[in-house]
Amino acid sequence: MTTQVESFNKAQIKIVLLEGIHPSAEKVFSQDGYTNIVTANKSLPEQELIETLKDARYLGIRSRTQITPELLAHCSKLEAIGCFCIGTNQVNLEKTKILGIPVFNAPFANTRSVAELVLGEMILLLRGIPTKNAAAHRGEWLKTAENSFETRGKILGIVGYGHIGTQIGILAENLGMKVQYFDIENKLALGNARAAESYYSLLETSDVISFHVPETPLTKNMMNAEAFQHIKKDSILLNASRGTVIDIEALEQALESKHLLGAAIDVYPKEPKSNQEEFISPLRRFDNVILTPHIGGSTKEAQANIGIEVSEKLIKYSNNGSTISAVNFPEAALPPHMNKHRICHIHHNEPGILARINDVFSSNNVNISAQYLQTDEAVGYVVTDIDYSSSDKVFEALKKIPKTIRTRILY
Ligand code: NAI
Repeated sequence: MTTQVESFNKAQIKIVLLEGIHPSAEKVFSQDGYTNIVTANKSLPEQELIETLKDARYLGIRSRTQITPELLAHCSKLEAIGCFCIGTNQVNLEKTKILGIPVFNAPFANTRSVAELVLGEMILLLRGIPTKNAAAHRGEWLKTAENSFETRGKILGIVGYGHIGTQIGILAENLGMKVQYFDIENKLALGNARAAESYYSLLETSDVISFHVPETPLTKNMMNAEAFQHIKKDSILLNASRGTVIDIEALEQALESKHLLGAAIDVYPKEPKSNQEEFISPLRRFDNVILTPHIGGSTKEAQANIGIEVSEKLIKYSNNGSTISAVNFPEAALPPHMNKHRICHIHHNEPGILARINDVFSSNNVNISAQYLQTDEAVGYVVTDIDYSSSDKVFEALKKIPKTIRTRILY
């Protein structure tokens, strides 16, 4: 069991930000009074990492630092982890949860960056620029208007009308495109967009098709050989979502047979692990395919947004206990606790614990002014606001309740 009983002095709370997290994060922390910040431009070697995290309360990482059970055994003070990126595979989410450590990320901070790239690629592909550009680099002069089109009036079919899909739809309408979309959920159509009757009807009626779905069993190879038969001749295909969505062999055949005018691919079933590894793909031989190395969301602006978004989530958790959008933890949206002490109690989710918590309050004659409970199958999170005068004694009693993982008192 871990307890955090030090007085809530923000300047003493150690924050560790690794892997060159954007300076926007440090700024947000300092502006809120969290000035004890350790930064590093790279991931740290194991021993140095252990040493640095021994007394750290909040940790920010990107994709390289592996948060394993072995490492967590050395981080008894750690209260929350921020992944300053989209993915959270580098963190053992089960173990962090059981230790009462919420993990946050920034799933949507790069939405605009992806949308802009896709839009730019659409314009270039409709004009046949990738082919003409590749030819010019070889000394060939392809001055022709054949297969060269404006975006205005063309039909854009968006598969997956979520954060990125909707953003692209709005931008594309501003270029004069007609937008239709297919989504498994009922989605509100923005602007003049309209829902397609079905996935295949979208494929059959779009000039440009762009995928913006997550990786799920349903989306795996959803653009396969059969689906390609439903695509109009001379249409354009883009995928900046996940590498498993398009069957690359089927795409290769559609390009080989010149059924497609062109394609833009940013994500692949198998991607190099580093910039030193060769990128292998049968698509490399096609001049009319824009190949980008999974950089749809990689812009300075997105990095800055991620720095702000994740640090704000960590600060909110530290100041107020809110776990909204945590990826491994019951989500509690909490209002401010003005003129009250807030006690956060994390425990193994077993029957009777809430009753024992409330027994502590009633036997100490404490009036609860607000109480919030969120649970998942493994962990319970109870947040209770009480009067100032009574909190220390109650806090000590709460720590002793069996199955308690962690308690925090917020002033
Ligand atoms: P989102 O969760 O906001 O939207 C996804 C949409 O797809 C949802 O509306 C959902 O209902 C829909 N969907 C799910 N399964 C579907 C199916 N079988 N058929 C049709 N629609 C389906 O996600 P967001 O932020 O728009 O991201 C979309 C994709 O882009 C994700 O796969 C994400 O990983 C990827 N991405 C890629 C980046 C890059 O660097 N290339 C950067 C950021 C995101």
